[in-house]
Amino acid sequence: MASEAPIGIFDSGIGGLTVAHAVSLALPNERLHYFGDTAHMPYGDRSPELVKSWSLRIAEHLLDSGCKAIIIACNSASAAATSAVASAVGPSVPVIDVVNPVVSAVAKGSARRIGVIGTRATIGSGVYGRALSIAMEQEGSAGRIEEWPTPLLAPLIEEGWHDHALMEPVIQSYIDAAGWDLEGPDALEALIPGCTHYPLALSALERVLGKGVALIDGPSIVAQEVKARLDAVNLTAGPSGQEKKHRFAVSDLTASFARSAERFFGSDIDLQHDPLWG
Ligand code: DGL
Repeated sequence: MASEAPIGIFDSGIGGLTVAHAVSLALPNERLHYFGDTAHMPYGDRSPELVKSWSLRIAEHLLDSGCKAIIIACNSASAAATSAVASAVGPSVPVIDVVNPVVSAVAKGSARRIGVIGTRATIGSGVYGRALSIAMEQEGSAGRIEEWPTPLLAPLIEEGWHDHALMEPVIQSYIDAAGWDLEGPDALEALIPGCTHYPLALSALERVLGKGVALIDGPSIVAQEVKARLDAVNLTAGPSGQEKKHRFAVSDLTASFARSAERFFGSDIDLQHDPLWG
């Protein structure tokens, strides 16, 4: 597989753009082929079997279009399909999910009272609690990890309401329902936004959490993992002297996708409709 080949990356919609953007900053010579499965969004309310079958089909599609690596830029799909996608594409194609790199980074950090928010699918899978407990044990420590589903956030963000006045009360209601203290001796030390849509609502999250709770920056952590994994197998693209043109495709054309892609990558984006599902 040539290092000049693009990196395939997918999510249910616009959330994975937060990861794509971080990857484009960490690896400026790389070309990205992004696929947003807008026809099936939200993944977070679907069964693991369905999300796994869609993820396998999308990975196959990205490989057919010549991608050298696959980033599963969706927590719900990472929880349901990482091992299935990795076995389907085989050992020569790096598959990077968005859960494991964050778990390793957080376990190596000092926070031990950790909250995780995400879709029903991600939180229901228990993937963060399980993986964090194991990773912390390997670091010789233990933590208190509490996971809470926040299913309204991704649809609000997909709607373009990341800065809407409704965001803060909705986030606050979920924090209250989870019973998390944000101040005082029992306060959370860190919060993992366990959905790739959530960094789009960073300001609202920061305003609700205040200064005492560290917000984990998943997209940057994942981008560093992508760099390390490509470097390890000599697949990192070098400078080509030509402008890098990313490709963005969706299974259903939506205004919110175009708006968000332009927000991250400028107005000159190449947005296509890939009717994967007929
Ligand atoms: N961005 C996806 C994630 O990280 C989920 C949004 C959805 O429910 O489709 O889980």
